[in-house]
Amino acid sequence: MRLPDPALVVLVGASGSGKSTWAAERYRPQEVVSSDALRGVVGSGNHDLDASVDAFAILEQVVAARVGRGLCTVVDTLGLDAGRRTSWLALARQAGLPAVAVVLATPEADCRRRNAARDVPVPAPALAGQLRRMRTVAEELATEGWEVVVTTEGAASQGAAAEEQVVARPAPVADTRDRRTSAGVEVVLQVSRFPWGEDPAGWLTGIALEADRLGFAGIALMDHLVQIPQVGRAWEPIPEPYVTLGLLAGLDTRLRLGTLVTPMTLRPAGVVAKAVATLDALSGGRAFVGVGAGWWEREHAGFGVPFPGARERLDLLEDGIETMRALWSPGTKAWHGTRAALPETTCYPRPVGPVPVIVGGSGERRTLRIAARLGDACNLPSDPAVLAAKTAVLHAHCSDVGRDPAEVAVTVLDLPVVGHDRGDAWRRVERLRGRTAAASYAARHHAAPAPAHAERYAALAEQHGVSTVFLGLPDLDSADDLERVAPLLA
Ligand code: CTP
Ligand code: MG
Repeated sequence: MRLPDPALVVLVGASGSGKSTWAAERYRPQEVVSSDALRGVVGSGNHDLDASVDAFAILEQVVAARVGRGLCTVVDTLGLDAGRRTSWLALARQAGLPAVAVVLATPEADCRRRNAARDVPVPAPALAGQLRRMRTVAEELATEGWEVVVTTEGAASQGAAAEEQVVARPAPVADTRDRRTSAGVEVVLQVSRFPWGEDPAGWLTGIALEADRLGFAGIALMDHLVQIPQVGRAWEPIPEPYVTLGLLAGLDTRLRLGTLVTPMTLRPAGVVAKAVATLDALSGGRAFVGVGAGWWEREHAGFGVPFPGARERLDLLEDGIETMRALWSPGTKAWHGTRAALPETTCYPRPVGPVPVIVGGSGERRTLRIAARLGDACNLPSDPAVLAAKTAVLHAHCSDVGRDPAEVAVTVLDLPVVGHDRGDAWRRVERLRGRTAAASYAARHHAAPAPAHAERYAALAEQHGVSTVFLGLPDLDSADDLERVAPLLA
């Protein structure tokens, strides 16, 4: 088995497992970046542990520089730090280099024996800790997204390659597709119904993996405590979104993940900031958050959550966005906003990067003003006439508060009925419309085959400056339903 070349190769093994030997037999010296060798460069010798911090700082720089140039790079460290592995993997992804993990599964007794024979052995408790970590590392690697994981016994240096057991994953090529349609719109799948039968996690995983494969830019979940009447019955499942997004964050996809929208009445804004920051950290910077003032009184009453009047809810929205941004900004200093204040802003983990805040709702006097002042985006209805009117109000607020309208992206929620053909579109309308007249249901949901929707999205981008369409399928039953929508992503 030939390993991909060039590649990022990350060695994983305890001291004395034979990592450096394995690398030296296969790669040129300048391709191997070794923490031990760098300890020798910046410290008193290869085993000068006092020099570790400096050695690793240089190692990170060398790895990033080489991988960034697309050069074959072998990282020779213990490889047991999952955080470092993930960041190297991200570098490889970015550079379009395949990422290979090589596990030196040398028998523990051999590692101990070789270590003891060294001039400067690793202290026995440290080696024992490494060997313990090695017992579970294969499981960790399996979920991290390596294109190839090689396990080698490393017993004898001759013919070691013959014993290597290679697990190659499908899709070894880095997915660098630009996830925008030719009209420049990104389409995010909005999931509002959860007909998951007996296997909630399996259903959600299937939807996410298929959405990623087809080229959706992300997944947005509704944030409600009880299913809303516009979508389904109150006893149908609607999962807590941040827990659910945590599950999706653990999958190997490039999907952006967030809510559309989180009512700021449900949790204190700081707690939302915490959840979103954690989601961003766990997903490698893919989080976004939609926020709104909340509207559905029943779910508040049923869960013992206060539901104040409209004015106070809008205050919660406005203060909440400020609070979230304060908790996401660097440092821990005290913060004094227009209405709320925090004695400190200690919120770790911080988001990996800026988290887009999308303000949902189209109340012209207050909500759109909050979006103009504090939003990265404003989510509006997709009906062109309504959209034109609301965008005009939004932009008027922007000039009023001194904000460049280009800084507030326009996004829309669209709930299309997508048929394989005209007949199929109409069959779906009949099935979905309930007591609504067929013609008005079809008009509201633009019932048509996919190409008609694609044209509509192009027009939304060109005529209304829409950057993102949140696409909710009224009849999303399983992952198989997504293929039908794929032409919309082209
Ligand atoms: N060795 C061996 N047979 C192998 C591999 C290694 O006999 N198949 C010996 C090497 O000659 C060396 C010792 O085992 O004396 C440790 O190998 P090394 O490659 O240095 O192990 P590393 O995993 O790189 O150890 P460290 O983490 O301490 O750098
Ligand atoms: Mg070594």
